[in-house]
Amino acid sequence: MKATTPPKTYRVKSFGCQMNVYDGERMAEMLGARGIVPAPEGEDADLVVLNTCHIREKAAEKVYSDIGRISKAGAAAGKQPLIAVAGCVAQAESEEIMARAPAVSMVVGPQAYHRLPDMLDRAVLGERATDTDMPAIAKFAALPPRRRTAPASFLTVQEGCDKFCTYCVVPYTRGAEISRPYSDLVTEARKLVEAGAKEITLLGQNVSAWSGENEHGHTVGLAGLIRDLAKVDGLARIRYTTSHPADMDDALIAAHGEIDALMPFLHLPVQAGSDRVLKAMNRSHTADSYLRLLERFRAARPDLALSGDFIVGFPGETEAEFEETLALVDAVGYAQAFSFKYSPRPGTPAAAMDGQVPKEVMDDRLQRLQAALNRDQLAFNQRSVGRRCEVLVERKGKHPGQWLGKTPWLQSAWFEGAAAIGDLVQVDLVEAGPNSLSARLREPVTA
Ligand code: 5AD
Ligand code: SF4
Repeated sequence: MKATTPPKTYRVKSFGCQMNVYDGERMAEMLGARGIVPAPEGEDADLVVLNTCHIREKAAEKVYSDIGRISKAGAAAGKQPLIAVAGCVAQAESEEIMARAPAVSMVVGPQAYHRLPDMLDRAVLGERATDTDMPAIAKFAALPPRRRTAPASFLTVQEGCDKFCTYCVVPYTRGAEISRPYSDLVTEARKLVEAGAKEITLLGQNVSAWSGENEHGHTVGLAGLIRDLAKVDGLARIRYTTSHPADMDDALIAAHGEIDALMPFLHLPVQAGSDRVLKAMNRSHTADSYLRLLERFRAARPDLALSGDFIVGFPGETEAEFEETLALVDAVGYAQAFSFKYSPRPGTPAAAMDGQVPKEVMDDRLQRLQAALNRDQLAFNQRSVGRRCEVLVERKGKHPGQWLGKTPWLQSAWFEGAAAIGDLVQVDLVEAGPNSLSARLREPVTA
């Protein structure tokens, strides 16, 4: 590659999960610390970071089409931007990217991105570099401190996964489970609040497996961390995601009934409703044990909104087994959920299993599942009408004077009136749609 002038502007494009959003923000902060500024909206950047997702085939393929588009635009403008590929595709396919995409000069895995600035120095000299070292808890220590942030921010507390669900690439791309130290998390949460966060979502591939030592030297789990973060002045709301049913302990269940700042929302993927399929997925829970677990959470927090992830068409899934998933959905009544067609990922055990399900069958099952989930989401929203609650204002709505935010149950709610981004306002929920609710601002109560 040719040497080039150091970039003045950057753009970070994050795909996939919320942890990628968090990583993308941290990469942006590192570039910012180097004096590189975000490219203005609509303008080409000198440096593009594609922070990629490898969880499903479609997500992974996107990176190659994006690289093609960026270098074509660069050729047309007479100036090629530097391109870095980060995230889980970088981890899983570093050699392929280097071979297939000569326009890429940096490939950096999710545990190594603290070294991006050094790689950039080499890229400017015309070198191509790959760094996919893992695991690197050191990454966090090497990042600059948090600065500006959104009212609803993310904080990675745990990374990696030891569960090895047979369909999933995460244990390979993100590596073994690690917990960030307690004191680092309390410090980062404080910094986020100082920088404007009112809500923090604690992130981890298996977040409920987090554990650490508190300032008294006691080992605490996620519930203990949440309890202490709830004491951070100015932090009104705490959420966490994603959990595995096997790591939900009594303390976490109790926390939902005891800690006001812990929002009444639980994302607990189940993936399927058939015990045979769950076993083949190596999920270590049954449909029944999952339902019993939810009962315990609901007993602690009766208004808890539930969310899940589903995969249809796992190898060998029969029509009757798929119907068990529909039955489970009926039994739970999810407030929202994510559902996917099974996508074979290279190197995972399920990719080599017999009984791969034809595409048309998967399409049909996904459609039926989503119809059920959409029905339940609308019903949940309709049941919320008449509720009086707090909304955290996250952005302006489409029309002047309109604001958009989230209810405690993570529903999008919009309203009109005097407010600002970052406000926690009291509203009445007045009308429900499938994806959002309209709300009426309550007059502030004055003494
Ligand atoms: N195919 C389809 N969906 C998948 N997920 C993970 N791996 C695959 C795969 N190979 C889904 C699971 C997981 C969510 C993040 O993505 O439902 O919970
Ligand atoms: Fe993947 Fe399973 Fe780990 Fe979730 S729990 S990240 S689905 S291996």
